[in-house]
Amino acid sequence: MVQAVLAIDQGTTNSKAILVDADGRVLGTGSAPVALSTPRPGWVEQDADDLWQSVLQAIATCLTAATSAVDLVGIGLSTQRESVVGWSKSGRPVAPVLGWQDTRTAAWCAQLPSGVGDLVRRRTGLRVDAMFSAPKMRWLLDRSDALVGTVDSWLIHRLTGCREHLIEAGNASRTLLFDVQELDWSTELLDAFGVPRSALPDVRRSDAGFGVTAGVPGLPDGIPIIAVLADSHAAMYGQGCTQPGMVKATYGTGSSVMTPVDGFTEGGCTLAWLTDRPVYALEGNIVSSGAALAWTADLLGLPDVGGLVALAATVPSAEGVVLVPAFAGLGAPHWDREARAALTGMNSSTTRAHIARAAVDAVAHQICDITDTIPGGVKSLRADGGATVSELLMQTQADLLGRPVEVADVPEASALGAAELAWTTLGATTGWAARRSYRTFEPRLDAAARAELRTQWAGAVASVRGRSA
Ligand code: G3P
Repeated sequence: MVQAVLAIDQGTTNSKAILVDADGRVLGTGSAPVALSTPRPGWVEQDADDLWQSVLQAIATCLTAATSAVDLVGIGLSTQRESVVGWSKSGRPVAPVLGWQDTRTAAWCAQLPSGVGDLVRRRTGLRVDAMFSAPKMRWLLDRSDALVGTVDSWLIHRLTGCREHLIEAGNASRTLLFDVQELDWSTELLDAFGVPRSALPDVRRSDAGFGVTAGVPGLPDGIPIIAVLADSHAAMYGQGCTQPGMVKATYGTGSSVMTPVDGFTEGGCTLAWLTDRPVYALEGNIVSSGAALAWTADLLGLPDVGGLVALAATVPSAEGVVLVPAFAGLGAPHWDREARAALTGMNSSTTRAHIARAAVDAVAHQICDITDTIPGGVKSLRADGGATVSELLMQTQADLLGRPVEVADVPEASALGAAELAWTTLGATTGWAARRSYRTFEPRLDAAARAELRTQWAGAVASVRGRSA
């Protein structure tokens, strides 16, 4: 029997499970979709029970697919961040999961006194925005007497037979309530957002252990949950980006660009993970990247994103067409929730292929908007997430960045990151990223062509900015 860690990666659109041995070899994988609903403009919800069921389904598929008999030594968990779950003391969800894309609290956030914004920046390194958990928790607690938590909290609760109410420190850092230097909930921030400490989970370091399985269909009781990481953070860990200058981009529903920094800074800083010491990272979040591809595929009547990318590849460029996918405003570095999406630069020769190409370009341009702000610049970019299968997107990224883009031979960076931290905690020799092979995309555009495309993009972004621009 081979010893294996079961790594679970619960994301916005699906749940994945992989079995990983102590050398980082993947012995089995499984995944299951999870639905998202948008009952009103700006509202983005998931069903907490469905989310749990999708995790169980992914685990079952993964265990069935295992290439050899395994001795399950523990669980590593990676989860979508900022989304909020509320449940009763008996463990029943009191409301849908308020997804990280949900902006129902935007107006509430906008009326907060500026002092709250300053406090948030000083204590958390972030800025007040409806994406983060605190305003969503406030919204839930205004309507019910619930226990609240993020998706890691909810899954830990379920995995442990409803015994534990815990949150991992990196996930806590995305709530706007956690003081990332004191490494504890901030009383001032709890007061500012009106979230009582008693409703919140206890915070644990990323490798502290989060209880053991109890009553989970398909899993034996007593399997320890060894390590927990937020998904973007887990991807950075799994990509081996542990030194300043190393940058990773995760291409999911949205995108996250992250690079470790030497210590806490107030602008865009987040707690990547907490083990023997806190590791901080600069991060920029893009609200719509994979979602923009899906939207465009739908608009053009294509069956899926694969079809969109294939269509985009039939033309050498977007011929001046620019899609700014600000469907729910713009995230980093613009942070303008009032901005709205636009498709610009069309003429009578514009075809569906140019629009498809503009959607691919938009994903890459948004990443560059963030990397442009990284002090010291980017040497190379490590890419992960579902969309990295697209050679066109990765080449476009290298072209617009003017730097090489490295794509690991394993797409499940977040799950692998959680598995690696679990194995490290168990005492295994890890550092798997250094042994992995990468496909490298070298930039092919010259500086002038790159500058022209970037200027075109910047102009289109400026044209959709709202009143806060
Ligand atoms: O911040 C939101 C992020 O954690 C969601 O990740 O992979 O579900 O798009 P993903």
